[in-house]
Amino acid sequence: MALSPADSQLIARTAAFIRDKFLHEGSGHDWEHIRRVWEVARRMAAHTPGADPLVTELGALLHDVADWKFHGGDEEAGPRAARAWLASEQASPVVLDRVEAIIREISFKGVGVATPMSSVEGELVQDADRLDAIGAIGVARAFAYGGHKNRPLHDPAVAPVSHDSFESYKQNTAPTINHFYEKLLHLRERMNTPAARRVAEERHAYLEQFLGQFLREWEGEDVG
Ligand code: ADP
Ligand code: NI
Repeated sequence: MALSPADSQLIARTAAFIRDKFLHEGSGHDWEHIRRVWEVARRMAAHTPGADPLVTELGALLHDVADWKFHGGDEEAGPRAARAWLASEQASPVVLDRVEAIIREISFKGVGVATPMSSVEGELVQDADRLDAIGAIGVARAFAYGGHKNRPLHDPAVAPVSHDSFESYKQNTAPTINHFYEKLLHLRERMNTPAARRVAEERHAYLEQFLGQFLREWEGEDVG
């Protein structure tokens, strides 16, 4: 499926809007995260028969437009903000509905909570978002987020936990290493598409290697 000139312009205006809004964000939801998700989703959509590139690219660009974590826990803030932007751009009602659904469905909510996507475009955007949470960049983002929240890097006295409900996941304030156990190490198994699963294998292996080395250094074991 090819983009019309009008579609390309809508994407370019949406990218400029989001870039302006997120350029100076410091919690791991910065513009460069969104740019990477956009790029990865766009590439995967190009190889996915039936994926609409307009819906995929708009979903990627708008997926973090108003995250509940930064809007007092309001899970409707994101879908609402995306709809308002696209309506102000006179996007078609179908595009509006489909992009809004992606943003409503995309978030990770704890290991025990399923987060199925209702469209192939949503699956691609969710995979791209989750790929950016693992691998070397995922490690960097986790510690950037932890620093933003003043969390310790690690505390061996805090046993790793994961969450069976969104409520307990939301309320977690554990040291950043716990985030690997509650989320990052589970993302490989939760990829929707074979293409993303292949990339996730390599990024997951990197996470495990990082974690092993981190824990050895924590106790000075690598000194002998
Ligand atoms: P995404 O943008 O992938 O939907 P989130 O919005 O949940 O992910 O989080 C943004 C980034 O911050 C991700 O890299 C995520 O792993 C990280 N992050 C979220 N919660 C925590 C946490 N409690 N500790 C460390 N990093 C976190
Ligand atoms: Ni994101």
